[in-house]
Amino acid sequence: MMAYGACIFDLDGVITDTAHYHFLAWKRLAESVGVPFDEEDNHQLKGVGRMESLAYILAKSDRTFDEAARARLAEQKNDDYKNLIREISPADLLPGILDAFDWLTERGMKIGLASASKNARPVIESLGVADRFHYVADAAQIPRGKPAPDIFLDVATAFGLSPEDCIGVEDAAAGVTAIKSAGMIAIGIGDPVILAHADLILPDTADLVGKGFAPLIG
Ligand code: G6P
Ligand code: MG
Repeated sequence: MMAYGACIFDLDGVITDTAHYHFLAWKRLAESVGVPFDEEDNHQLKGVGRMESLAYILAKSDRTFDEAARARLAEQKNDDYKNLIREISPADLLPGILDAFDWLTERGMKIGLASASKNARPVIESLGVADRFHYVADAAQIPRGKPAPDIFLDVATAFGLSPEDCIGVEDAAAGVTAIKSAGMIAIGIGDPVILAHADLILPDTADLVGKGFAPLIG
């Protein structure tokens, strides 16, 4: 068992199921430009930033899209996404997340947020958990998105901690890669095949304290 100073969470698909709303909005956008979009595409895009995700979808089209067209499409997806998440409330927190925050806080550990989403701040406010985070990374200030380690390193730096003193929690393959590249311990939530490079994989956030933190941290 190790003494860790912080736990750094991803947002979409870890703290709340907004991953599903991103999927719906990307699917509509892809279909509006005549590109099919399925669950496999969605897995590729989890944790990936807005413009990079758009580039992935448009690469499957025969048409070319200039910068202005791309900006319009990104805005269309984001408007659609914001409509989908309008009703988010504390009831949308995934199971075990509040327990996880309490458990970490009781042990004096810092809690950080490393989300690629530029909508992260309003989402955590709607969920009623904004004040549980000691630091929230601003995706707009991080030039290299996941799978680069930068956003996780930004949080560790804000806490004055070495990466090896931090645990990251992610539902996306790109996110687990980012945590591992940062030199942190990675807990993956979800599919053991997709997240095979995590140090510990849990099917569900409900197991975070009992099967994740307790055996790792004690
Ligand atoms: C997260 C999600 C992605 C999303 C990205 C950007 O990483 O997992 O699905 O595309 O954030 O989100 P944004 O809200 O800024 O478009
Ligand atoms: Mg995620």
